[in-house]
Amino acid sequence: MGASIVRPELRVFPTAEDLAQGAARFIVDQAQEAEQARGVVTLALSGGNTPRATYERLAAPPARDAMPWAITQVFFSDERFVPLDSPQSNYHLAWQTLLSHVPMSPRFVHAVETTGISPQEAAILYQQGIRRVFRVGLTEVPRFDLILLGLGPDGHTASLFPGTAALHELDALVVPNHVPKFESWRITFTYTLINAARVVAFLVEGAGKAEMVQRVLAGDPHLPASRVQPNGGKLVWLLDQAAAAELGEAH
Ligand code: 6PG
Repeated sequence: MGASIVRPELRVFPTAEDLAQGAARFIVDQAQEAEQARGVVTLALSGGNTPRATYERLAAPPARDAMPWAITQVFFSDERFVPLDSPQSNYHLAWQTLLSHVPMSPRFVHAVETTGISPQEAAILYQQGIRRVFRVGLTEVPRFDLILLGLGPDGHTASLFPGTAALHELDALVVPNHVPKFESWRITFTYTLINAARVVAFLVEGAGKAEMVQRVLAGDPHLPASRVQPNGGKLVWLLDQAAAAELGEAH
């Protein structure tokens, strides 16, 4: 198995609480760097359960007051094709734990539209919205300042699941992806968009993910997360000790 092509930076925190605090601080640091460099922050939030604790820390002092919310554009690296008020929605998670508690314009929160349209239309609309905010044409790939990703027990990330069509998409920035194991549709960033980011950060917590973390960092080609290899950008893993338990001393 080939190791990760891009040398990842690992930040291992003793406990889940330290990880949540450390990840919130990391997001603030990346945002402040982007503010200094370009006067705008483009951030894509990950979904699932892991980021909840980080979002809650980011929604409270000191992190909340250090974030440049007024110039931060928030997107979602993937979304379940459910109503935005569904407990299954990644937007819903972020709204409840973070976005409804911070001083940012609703115009800068870019949820995936999932009502009254097809998954295909939702992906096209989302992609158009990303291009509009980044002010890029059809041939340029937007460079997010920071894309947060989770890691699933099967090695998926965003909604790039093993054996699904989205893994083979090389041109689009966002695609609909049918996930047979959930018998549901997802809307997901593609590798093309993810790997164009300035910084991609996996946020992974708990002993249950330790084996998968080790396999992805070893470059297991069967795992979708292994193909997250930023082109010229930084790859960071934000882990608690439990999720890093199978990495040995080398990391
Ligand atoms: C989603 C996520 C997905 C998630 C992983 C980990 O929509 O579910 O984007 O990629 O990050 O499945 O989920 P947990 O944090 O719940 O383990």
